[in-house]
Amino acid sequence: MYYPDETIEEIRSRTDIVAFISSYIDLKRRGANYVGRCPFHSEKTPSFSVNPSRQMYHCFGCGTGGNVFTFAMEYDNLTFPEAVQMLAKRCGVSLPEAEESEESRKQDSIKKRVLDIQNDAGVFYYSVLKSDKDRAGYRYFTGRGLTDDTIRKFGLGYSGKTGGLYRYLKGKGYSDSELNMSGLFSFDERKGARDKFWNRVMFPIMDVNNRVIAFGGRVMGDALPKYLNSPETVVFDKSRNLYGLNYAKKSRSKYFILCEGYMDVIMLHQAGFECACASLGTALTQLQANLIKRYVNQVIISYDSDDAGTKASLRAIPILKNAGLSVKVLDMSPYKDPDEFIKNLGVDEYRNRIDNAENSFYFEISVLERNYDFSDPEQKTVFFNETARRLLVFEDELERSNYTEAIAAKYNIRTDQLKNLVAKQSANIAGIPVSSGKYKRNANDKKEDGIGQAQALLLSWMAGEPGIIEKIKDIISTEDFFEEPYRRLAKLIFSQYENEGTVVPAKILNNFQNAEEQTVVANILSRNIPDDKRDMNEKEKVLNEIVKRIRKQSIDRMTRNVTKLEELQNLMIMRADLQKLHISLQDG
Ligand code: UTP
Ligand code: MN
Repeated sequence: MYYPDETIEEIRSRTDIVAFISSYIDLKRRGANYVGRCPFHSEKTPSFSVNPSRQMYHCFGCGTGGNVFTFAMEYDNLTFPEAVQMLAKRCGVSLPEAEESEESRKQDSIKKRVLDIQNDAGVFYYSVLKSDKDRAGYRYFTGRGLTDDTIRKFGLGYSGKTGGLYRYLKGKGYSDSELNMSGLFSFDERKGARDKFWNRVMFPIMDVNNRVIAFGGRVMGDALPKYLNSPETVVFDKSRNLYGLNYAKKSRSKYFILCEGYMDVIMLHQAGFECACASLGTALTQLQANLIKRYVNQVIISYDSDDAGTKASLRAIPILKNAGLSVKVLDMSPYKDPDEFIKNLGVDEYRNRIDNAENSFYFEISVLERNYDFSDPEQKTVFFNETARRLLVFEDELERSNYTEAIAAKYNIRTDQLKNLVAKQSANIAGIPVSSGKYKRNANDKKEDGIGQAQALLLSWMAGEPGIIEKIKDIISTEDFFEEPYRRLAKLIFSQYENEGTVVPAKILNNFQNAEEQTVVANILSRNIPDDKRDMNEKEKVLNEIVKRIRKQSIDRMTRNVTKLEELQNLMIMRADLQKLHISLQDG
């Protein structure tokens, strides 16, 4: 979907970035900017900065940044057109009939058809479950303790022994190619189409908007595979959905209970824990964690208590923390999962375990402990050293000290002893930055050579203080920025200045429509430039240095590519002239 540039810019300029971002996170004024805790990575000290004059944000911690559209895209997981629509509504700009491209219109209608198929399939499976002809599916669910209300709430179904979904959907007018895309059938040249799910009880997977997007089907006995799931389709992206989230988000709970499977979620909801959702057997993804963070600040992990579940919890913890969530782990022993636990010990005991859920750090340490034999002094020493190393994840001094004390008390060693170990570990890894977050999309991470830095700084300067463009435009041109995205940015900045007499950094960003690009560009446009308080001479010196550096690099590059002697001579002259160049900021 495409909207005219002017409309996009009108929406952007009508949406004040400080007010907009403040509706999501707390911002405090600091000098000319506003700062807060970054919603895109986990941090204690605010490194997220919003610049009202540039109408952009930038996080010095994780490198993310952009304008109001980028923020909406990242925070609410929207595409660019969706972000435009959302902000248009917010600031009261009416959008013209979107000029939809042929391609995107086709894509939208395919998605709609595939969604309709999922919905119709859900209705079909439900009616088979409820039919009198074959009660096996219904008996299976009730045998596991599910009530009719629960069955209805989760839209549970049964694919039956005779199949029949294909015929049913054909009767509704879907084409084979549409049915093929639904993931519910296998197509064979000779045998034709066959239902993928057969004689299984069915669990529709819904998205946050209660639309059926896929299915899981369970055998009613011990056959394998126990669960069969829809493949990824145009409407089902596993890494972006959580089972039960459509209900959990409405639970008004301060935390979510995160479990592994369909039945765990369903049993928990039936028992009154409507904040339960599941990652469905796959490893939790960062996208799923970020999705959770939209609704709550805390997660209580209630994965299976077996080895696989413990490993999965250990993997999930950093991912959840990285999304800015506080994490606890619930102990389900001696039972395997929430379903079994509640059946055996009841709802009250489960609630009790929630109240006593262990902070994820203690959980990690107690899992670690299992690997060591404390009767062996050497192993015990290794354990404490490892524990000390892990205490380094707490960047905040006070927090680290609190945990150190608590761990020392728990394992009966003196606090100062453990503190010494922590100090030693910290010295060991000095130079390696300690950080709990592994998920960084920092454009600065990519080694930027000196020339990239100079170009970025100059571009940021031109965007933030367009007055200097007047001083350099006869010396530097778009051609001097020989790599992307610098060149494209330079072009945009020069032309905006030429056409409008000024530069609005956030507007420049409108030209980059995927979040990835926007972040890279925002990063460049957020470089600190010498401010006005600085001594004018100093500022002038910096500007001259950067401009010369960029020009020199550019001339050198041309020199490498010349084919004629005459050109070479010209370049030599240009290079010599560069020595004499001086840009003055004081006059005119
Ligand atoms: P479990 O094996 O723990 O199943 O797998 P469960 O949830 O306890 O199911 P019941 O109680 O035996 O019916 C946890 C989750 O992993 C996925 C499913 O999403 C399941 O709910 N899984 C498991 C599969 O996708 N395929 C499988 O073969 C097994
Ligand atoms: Mn289970």
